[in-house]
Amino acid sequence: MAGKHVVIIFAFLCMQTVLLAQSGMNTLVVHADGGKDTISRFIYGQFAEHLGHGIYGGVWVGEDSPIPNTRGIRNDVVAALKKIRVSAVRWPGGCFADEYHWGAGIGPRANRPKMVNTNWGGVTEDNSFGTHEFMDLCEQLGCEPVICGNIGSGTVKEMSDWVQYLTSDGDNPMTELRKKNGREKPWKVKFWCVGNETWGCGGIMSADHYANELGRYSYFLKNYSGTPLYKISSGGLQEDYAWTETIMKKWKNTDAWLQGYMSGYSLHYYTVPDWNKKGTATDFAEKDWFATLSSTLKMDELIRRHAAIMDAYDAQRRIGLIVDEWGNWFDVEPGTNPGFLYQQNTLRDAMVAAVNLNLFHKHCDRVKMANIAQMVNVLQAMILTKGPEIVLTPTYYVFKMYSVHQDAALLPMELQSESYTNGKDSIPTLSVSASKDREGRIHISLANLHPTKGENLRCELKGTTSARVSGEIITAATMNAYNDFGKPEAVNIKPFKGAQLRNGVLTVSLPAKSIVTLEVN
Ligand code: AHR
Repeated sequence: MAGKHVVIIFAFLCMQTVLLAQSGMNTLVVHADGGKDTISRFIYGQFAEHLGHGIYGGVWVGEDSPIPNTRGIRNDVVAALKKIRVSAVRWPGGCFADEYHWGAGIGPRANRPKMVNTNWGGVTEDNSFGTHEFMDLCEQLGCEPVICGNIGSGTVKEMSDWVQYLTSDGDNPMTELRKKNGREKPWKVKFWCVGNETWGCGGIMSADHYANELGRYSYFLKNYSGTPLYKISSGGLQEDYAWTETIMKKWKNTDAWLQGYMSGYSLHYYTVPDWNKKGTATDFAEKDWFATLSSTLKMDELIRRHAAIMDAYDAQRRIGLIVDEWGNWFDVEPGTNPGFLYQQNTLRDAMVAAVNLNLFHKHCDRVKMANIAQMVNVLQAMILTKGPEIVLTPTYYVFKMYSVHQDAALLPMELQSESYTNGKDSIPTLSVSASKDREGRIHISLANLHPTKGENLRCELKGTTSARVSGEIITAATMNAYNDFGKPEAVNIKPFKGAQLRNGVLTVSLPAKSIVTLEVN
């Protein structure tokens, strides 16, 4: 009889071992009482450039359009963006910023001079969307403007006049001009980028040369409105750590009373495994899924290494790392203008968004803003438009589900993740982030990067007596599922029932290629 019991127990243990091997054993410990750093809502910033239909058609349709609009700005796009709580929009570029002369985009639209958009398709820019229209967009969205000044082909006077035009209420020429153009009260514009990619399309400068230009331009950007300006330095090409060193060293060696010339330092990193063969956004195999996710994880190393240099000069972390361009960059959709960078957006994009947001959270002691490229119709967009129709992308839904983390306290955690192996390479299967909001609710976001294997997670919640868990999930039947015009949505947020909470331990069963956010309260 005893022998029979031993056999049964042995068989049971073997079964457990097999089950664990099949489903993976991942463990997480979350310290719910330990948060000290805030996940800035500006990590959820957007980027909107005069590029393709990013502005024209995507945001701006003009007051006479049959597409419902408020003072020329699409109502459907604004309503959708408000639901994901857009915190900031960076404008007018990108490369476009360094050939943009803001004076051409004010006053009666019929009188505005035209220009050629040499970076993006050589199309004619009629300047109908200018400073007032952009500020109106930000007011409609309830978000902060982030304005990128032209230091490549502009002048110090031109940029400092722009600051005066927008923010001054004094007796001066720019305030007078603004009032003449219909805006009595000044706006508040805190965030100013002092050039964009100045190593490349912003003027092919060396780090030393740009360090001097940064000081010269920034010094003349004045605080007229009582809101100190947050001036963002251009960074070097993604891994150019020497550039970071040059800029930070100059800042450190500047007299303390002048150091306000820089508040943030920009990092741009696009997820592109091979720039010569970017591949299509929708037609890909598992090896491409894996390559994209491996490549996006490099963001962690980039932030760590740039931040380490910044720490050496700025131990108190006064300068924010501003990741003001990031996201997937694929081939344009067949038949579209190659200069317009219009691409579809699949569950793979959703996964890339989740992984990057988790990384920005993890580094929120240094990363103070991030702006995904780009908001509408360009690269990894939130929204695609076709005439009067709009599509909300899988990336949009990640931003929506993750919006609970905005301005919440990052919770410390320890994760032990299974590996996802493809060929000779491996990456962690799980990407995770946890925060506690001002009402004391805990949110844990979990992404299972494996496209075919579900994962089990045991998560210990320390420092809380909360006993209820609910959740939401983004997943789809295939890796390349996407939302398309005139079709029911293939990717959206659904309720998630795969988590149980007992005695401070969460057990979660994550489907393959899924992103989940749990709320514990
Ligand atoms: O987002 C598209 C372009 O990528 C931007 O204009 C430029 O800054 C970057 O190289």
